[in-house]
Amino acid sequence: AQTVARGADGVVTVGGIDVIRLAEEFGTPAYILDEADFRARARAWRTAFGSDADVFYAGKAFLSRAVVRWLNEEGLNLDVCSGGELATALSAGMPAERIAFHGNNKSAQEIERAVSAGVGRIVLDSFPEIVRVAHIAQSLGKRQRVQIRVTVGVEAHTHEFIATAHEDQKFGIPLADGQAAEAVRRALQLDGLELIGIHSHIGSQIFDMSGFEVAAHRVVGLLKDIRDEHGIELPEIDLGGGLGIAYTSDDDPREPHEIAKALTEIVGRECEAARLRTPRISVEPGRAVVGPTAFTLYEVGTVKKLEGLRTYVSVDGGMSDNIRTALYDAEYSVALVSRSSDAAPMLARVVGKHCESGDIVVRDAFLPADLAPGDLIAVPATGAYCRSMASNYNHVLRPPVVAVRDGAARAIVRRETEEDLLLLDVG
Ligand code: LLP
Repeated sequence: AQTVARGADGVVTVGGIDVIRLAEEFGTPAYILDEADFRARARAWRTAFGSDADVFYAGKAFLSRAVVRWLNEEGLNLDVCSGGELATALSAGMPAERIAFHGNNKSAQEIERAVSAGVGRIVLDSFPEIVRVAHIAQSLGKRQRVQIRVTVGVEAHTHEFIATAHEDQKFGIPLADGQAAEAVRRALQLDGLELIGIHSHIGSQIFDMSGFEVAAHRVVGLLKDIRDEHGIELPEIDLGGGLGIAYTSDDDPREPHEIAKALTEIVGRECEAARLRTPRISVEPGRAVVGPTAFTLYEVGTVKKLEGLRTYVSVDGGMSDNIRTALYDAEYSVALVSRSSDAAPMLARVVGKHCESGDIVVRDAFLPADLAPGDLIAVPATGAYCRSMASNYNHVLRPPVVAVRDGAARAIVRRETEEDLLLLDVG
């Protein structure tokens, strides 16, 4: 987060509030989110692409009603991928026409709700779904704006993708063997659908621009084929999300304006060569907007020194508030934030309180050797895919998300309570 600073006493502040006060008021663990940073990043995406493009924030990274309001105020649109995300977006006042609805297995009820609400686009992910959405729209007396999601066949082993562009997977319709062209043919025949464009999402936590460029190139190729076959020029392309962020100092992320420049240049160039009108571009960043804006604040509990091995530092959360280390071998850093220390660094592993040895938050980190129970430590860059993937494993209560801004803090998602847990248990 941008407004993080360390005072002379070693105590870290964010948005003008120190972490000791935050821990007292909201408890630990807690996700502390810097609202000014979130808004600045959202704005940077919007201005990078200018008025010729649309930015859809990917709600799966982290969604709450406050986030929806911020996005609305900063002029971003929203990508949702479930009925729950759609309900959150609508209940916080996101205009339906600025919502894109995704998913490889949308239920009939979800499609019905999205069409009735008037979402700006539904991204079609399979042949059966083309027919399903068309029928539902028609039965509601509507013509639904849709995009078709294609897999462009980028070779996963040549780039470090959390790959979704190769063909052997559950998302999208392959460009290969004319499958996407066939999907376009079918969509164009159905009265319930207005085909507005082609969608591609190549993966997540990507640093190498070349994958986006290949995708843009291939999507424009399909637009050209469509023009040649049907005599129409689709007005939009969506190139998905996926821009990587820095989790540790080894990562060197690209900025929104760099990706905007690369994408608009390649799309412009290729369209000119194909004598196509340049389509309106949209993108769907999630992680790159919210990821860096939050850190998780934990209190240190048991410190176990295993002679000759390492020190295990247990915190009051774990894999239930951050599954990414266990699931993806993700790397994080960690720092002591409630005081300064002159003690020598010790090799530590930050672990949670769950009944599972894979419950690791930070695999390898150096923390001061005098670390003690009651110290507060922070794990940065947990704004994306941590609260949104949180669980109740071991009936551990999910932490709050606390937004700080200009010296004020408020929970935008409150801490779960034991009562919440018991309310669901109706047996
Ligand atoms: N658009 C589509 C169609 C997507 O499937 C995704 C992410 C995004 C946009 C946003 O991607 P981003 O800009 O956040 O990389 N749970 C994983 C990440 C899964 C991403 C799924 N789709 C993680 O924690 O790394």
